[in-house]
Amino acid sequence: MRNRIRRHKTFLKSSLLYFLTILLGTMVLPKAKAQVKPVDAEGHEWWQHAVFYEIYPRSFADSNNDGVGDLNGIASKLDYLKKLGVDAIWITPCYPSPQVDFGYDVSDYENIDPMYGTLADFERLASEAHKRNIRIIMDFVMNHTSDQHPWFKESRSSRDNPKRDWYIWRDGKGPGQPPNNWESTFGGSAWQFDPTTGQYYYHYFYKQQPDLNWRNPDVEKAMFDVTRWWYQRGVAGFRLDAVDTLFEDPDLHNNPILPGKNQYGDPNMANVYNTKLPELHGVLQRLRKVADEYDAVLIGETWTKNIAELKQYYGEDNNELQMPMDFLFTKVDKLSPDEFRKQIAGVNAAGWPVYVLSNHDIVRAYVRYGDGVHNDAIAKVMAGLYLTLRGTPIMYYGEEIGMTNNDPKRRQDVKDPIGKLGWPKDKGRDGERTPMQWNTSENAGFSETKPWLPVPASYKTHNVETELKNPDSILNFYKRVLALRHDDAALRDGDYVALNKNDHNVLSYLRRYKDEAVLVALNMSSSAQQVSFDLRAQGIKADMASTLLTTMKTNQEKAALRSITLEPFSVYIGKIEE
Ligand code: GLC
Repeated sequence: MRNRIRRHKTFLKSSLLYFLTILLGTMVLPKAKAQVKPVDAEGHEWWQHAVFYEIYPRSFADSNNDGVGDLNGIASKLDYLKKLGVDAIWITPCYPSPQVDFGYDVSDYENIDPMYGTLADFERLASEAHKRNIRIIMDFVMNHTSDQHPWFKESRSSRDNPKRDWYIWRDGKGPGQPPNNWESTFGGSAWQFDPTTGQYYYHYFYKQQPDLNWRNPDVEKAMFDVTRWWYQRGVAGFRLDAVDTLFEDPDLHNNPILPGKNQYGDPNMANVYNTKLPELHGVLQRLRKVADEYDAVLIGETWTKNIAELKQYYGEDNNELQMPMDFLFTKVDKLSPDEFRKQIAGVNAAGWPVYVLSNHDIVRAYVRYGDGVHNDAIAKVMAGLYLTLRGTPIMYYGEEIGMTNNDPKRRQDVKDPIGKLGWPKDKGRDGERTPMQWNTSENAGFSETKPWLPVPASYKTHNVETELKNPDSILNFYKRVLALRHDDAALRDGDYVALNKNDHNVLSYLRRYKDEAVLVALNMSSSAQQVSFDLRAQGIKADMASTLLTTMKTNQEKAALRSITLEPFSVYIGKIEE
C-alpha cells in the first residue's frame, strides 16, 4: 500500500511536471500554425528563404566532456550559427538508440538518447533557437526501427502478436534459404532468420534495423503521430531518412542481377522490387497534410537517378516533399561548369531546387572538389556556387571552415560497421563525421576528452577561431556570401538565367528579380580566364557591374561586363547597374 501511495505521488509529481513543461513549451515555443504562410508577395515560404545547416550531434560540440557531442553543446553554439547566417538546423537522429548505425536505429521516437541529454535539454535548445529565429529540423527515420524498439520486440515474440504485421515477416524458401534474393545495402542478404518464430524479417539496412511495414495503416498512424508529437514541441520539419525504401513488392519478386560485384562482395543488383515503389507517394502526400497543419517542411533523402525521378518527389500538385534533396548535384564530382549547368537547368525545371554538397554519408566537399593544392580557393568557388543559386542550400557542419575527410588508417580503428565490412575498398563514413574544429587547443576545442573519432591534423589551420581572424578565410567568405544572400532580393528570390553556356571553364549566371540583376561568375579552372557578357538578349543594356563580393586579389569596385579577368579558381559577384 505504502508503495502504491509513493508510486501514486511520484506519478502526480511527474504529471504536474509534464503539464508544466507542456504549458511552458506552448508559451515559449513557436505555436503550431494551421496552414502554410507565404512570407512574401511572390508566395515564397519560410524554407525557401532559409539556409539550412546539418549537425551530426555526436560530432558538433561536447558539453559534458565524454568525447561525444550533445544537445547542450549545440545550444552553446547557436550564436556562432546565427552569425554565420544559418536559419535552420537539421539535427541527425538524437533519439534513444543502441547506436548500431549511430542513431539511425531508433528504439524510441519520442525521447532523447541520454548520451545527448534529456527532453528538457531539447526544449531548452528549441527555445534558445527560437529566440534567435533558428528553426529546428529533426530526422525522421521512417523506413525502419531498431530491433530494440518495443514494437519489434513484440513483433518478433510470436506469429500472432498484434504487432507481427508491423514489420515484414516471411517464410524462407527452404532450410537456410531466405524468401528471395534481395540484398541489404549494407552487405549480405536483406533477410534475417529469427529462430523464435521460424520466419525471416526484412531489413534494407543492418539486420538491427528491421523495415516497418508501411502497408499496415496502424504503422502509418503511429509514425504520423510521432511527427505531430515533435511539431507540438516546436520542431519546424523533418528530414525524411531513406525515403526511397519505404515499400517492397508484396509478391517478393527477385531483383535482376547485374554484372560484377559490389564493395561487400555481393552480386550487383537492380533494386527494382524494393526501392521507389509508387505506393510511397501516397504516404508522402498524407504526411505532407500533417506537416501543412504546422507550417512545417519535409526534406527528403532522395537518391534519384535522373531529374524525372526527382520531380516525382515534389508531387504532381506540389503536394509531397517541399525539399527533395538533389543528390545528382553531389554526383557532379568535379569542377565542371558544363555538368553543373546541365544539372542546375534540370532541377530548376523540376521544382524548387535543394542543393547539398556533402553530408554524413558523403565524402566532404573540400576533398571531393579540391585538387590538393588550391583546396581553400576551390572551397570558396563551391560556396560561391551553391549559396548563390536559386533554391535552398543545406550546408554540412564544418564545410564553412574547409574541414577535410579524415578516413581511418587501420581497419581496427573503424567505427562505422560498413567500413569494417567493406575494408579497404569502403572505409565507411567515419572520415566525414569527425569532430567540429573550433580552435587550436587539444581535440580542436570539441571536447576535453579524447573524442569518439580523431580530429585531422588540419584543425591547426582550419578552425573557427583562427579563421574568424583571417579576412580571407573560407569561413569569412561563407559569412559574406550568406549575408549577401539574405540581403539581396535578386540572390534570394531571383530567377536563374544561365550565361555563356559554351564556356568550359567559367560558370556564369544571372539572378534576376524584377528590375534587379546580380551576376555570378565562377572560374573553375586553374588558369586566369577572360570573360565577356552581352546581356542585351536579357533586355539589359548596362555594361557595368558593381562588385558585391569577390575572392580576387585585384578587387575592383566595378567591372566592365565586356571584359572581366577572373583569377584562377575565383568568384565574382556583382550587381548589374541598370
Ligand atoms: C540514411 C542515413 C544513413 C543511414 C541510413 C539508414 O541513408 O543518412 O546515415 O545509415 O539512412 O538509416
